[in-house]
Amino acid sequence: MNIQKKQYAVLFVCLGNICRSPLAEAIFQKKISENNLTHVFTCDSCGTGDYHIGQQPDPRTQAVAKKHHVPINHQCRQLRTSDFEAFDRIIAMDESNRKNILWKGGSSIQEKVWLMRAFDPEGGDEVPDPYHGNEKDFEEVYQILDRAIDSLIRELVKDKEITAPKSEV
Ligand code: 4NP
Repeated sequence: MNIQKKQYAVLFVCLGNICRSPLAEAIFQKKISENNLTHVFTCDSCGTGDYHIGQQPDPRTQAVAKKHHVPINHQCRQLRTSDFEAFDRIIAMDESNRKNILWKGGSSIQEKVWLMRAFDPEGGDEVPDPYHGNEKDFEEVYQILDRAIDSLIRELVKDKEITAPKSEV
């Protein structure tokens, strides 16, 4: 019998989907590949805004990803209501993104929306928006995401063990 294995779907969300969330998606994808977890997790990213739909990540995001040997290839898209059903976890880059997600999705999705920076072992509230910044700001975003995604993955592995039947892993 061919049993379809369920994957646990994680969505990273920022405002424009050209700076932070596509980088988060790319780092997450690289780490789950390195940890042989690609059969467990699937991921995507999107923006709450519609300014850059169809565009590739910002050149400064591409540059910092290249510097750290993280493959990145994403076409910007906006958050849609079907995402609330399709994804098990939605990871917001900042409080404004989180509010906009909840505004669109309603209180029933509150439990699946987490703040990225809550997983940063060095603390902090938000992944700062680097759009009007420089190379140093993009490097800071990379370092935050790199740290936080390690602990996010550990938490998701625990979360999946709790919420999904073993046979589906
Ligand atoms: P992101 O950064 O939310 O990390 O993708 C931004 C990208 C574009 C804009 C703002 C933030 N914008 O105003 O166009």
